[in-house]
This record gives sequence, structure tokens and C-alpha cells, in this order.
Amino acid sequence: MIAASIDSLVAGAICFVETNQDPHDTAKFPKTFSAYSSMARSEPALSLYVYNLGVRPEFRGTDIARRLLSELIEHGRRVGARWLVGDGRCPSYAGAQHDTPDKVLPDQRFRATIDDWHRTGVTPPVKSIIRDPLLRFYRRVLNCEFLHLAPGFLPEDASSGGYRVIFAVDVTQ
Ligand SMILES: CC(C)(COP(=O)(O)OP(=O)(O)OC[C@H]1O[C@@H](n2cnc3c(N)ncnc32)[C@H](O)[C@@H]1OP(=O)(O)O)[C@@H](O)C(=O)NCCC(=O)NCCS
Repeated sequence: MIAASIDSLVAGAICFVETNQDPHDTAKFPKTFSAYSSMARSEPALSLYVYNLGVRPEFRGTDIARRLLSELIEHGRRVGARWLVGDGRCPSYAGAQHDTPDKVLPDQRFRATIDDWHRTGVTPPVKSIIRDPLLRFYRRVLNCEFLHLAPGFLPEDASSGGYRVIFAVDVTQ
């Protein structure tokens, strides 16, 4: 974990595991968030699998999230990793639910994009994917590549329809 603290308060943190897995190997990629977030560390560290990124609400809109990601990229380079990988939530799929702090409206066109992706297996254009604010955030900050759709990854995340969009960044670039 890498944490950012302000006045002895944890303002944000990023949790990850070093793994020898290649995120492009979709068949081997963990099928659920539970499996993804509890992977054992393995060597050599080809990839850093990020399973949690959060900034306290009062510190959002600052550069903390970007700095946490930059620190992680630096860490990845130090340990000789190639990929930073994330499981992007996509709350535009169904919109914010009452019990979450999201302020995202449902987006029918985005939902159709995800449903088509699931049905056909064909990756949609980036411009359709980044209609979602979180996926747009990752694209903007990391210039990531969207690799594959993970249906049923976290069914409890009703906003995202249980989906995650798996993305990767080449940290050697
Ligand atoms: C994701 C997170 C770390 C980004 O940090 P941040 O300080 O908000 O980042 P920025 O202000 O640079 O950009 C946030 C962008 O993401 C969107 N966003 C991120 N989380 C959001 C949320 N929970 N609700 C609404 N929009 C959100 C914002 O609309 C904004 O998009 P825009 O600039 O295109 O309008 C932070 O919002 C957070 O902790 N969110 C809750 C936890 C979470 O969803 N983590 C990601 C798991 S995949």
C-alpha cells in the first residue's frame, strides 16, 4: 500500500500486489474482485495489480490521486514491472445507488456499450468507454489501455452492474 497523509491524516491510499501475471492473458485473469484483491504476491514482478484507490471526500479534486498513481508507477519501475493494472468501476452503468457516495447519473448509451461488449466480446471505441467519469479519469491520468470487460466481478457494486473494466498502463514508457 502507498498512502498520502496530510496533517497526520490518511488522505488517500492505493493498494496493490506485485504479480508475475500478464493482464493480457484474459483466461488467467481473476474472475472476481474477491480473487483479484486477495492474490498472493508472486515473482518476478511483471505487473502491479491495483485493487483499491481511494481519496477521502474532502481531499478529492486535488492532485492526491494523481500523485498516488505516479508514486506507484515509480515503484513499478524500481521493481522492474511492466504493467500497472486496475479494475475500473463504471458507475454510469446504473447510476449512483442510494447507499454510495457516488454522484453519477445512469447513462443509457454507456450501458448499451457495456451490454454490447459483454454480448459480442468486441472492445468498443475508447470514446464510448470514457463516457463514464471514472473510466475517463483513468484514461486522462494514466493514458491507460482498456483490456477487457469483467462481468460479475463484484455483483454487490450495483452502480457498475457488477462489471469492471480491466485496464493496463505500460510503466516502462
Ligand atoms: C477515484 C478517486 C480516487 C479520484 O480522485 P479525485 O480526487 O476525485 O480525482 P479527480 O478530481 O482528479 O478526478 C475525478 C474524476 O473522476 C470522477 N469521479 C471519480 N469518483 C467519482 C465518484 N465517486 N463519483 C462521481 N464522480 C467520480 C469525477 O467526476 C472526475 O471526473 P471529471 O474530471 O471528468 O469530471 C476518488 O474520486 C475516490 O476516492 N472515489 C471513490 C472511490 C472509488 O471509486 N475508487 C475507484 C475504484 S475503481
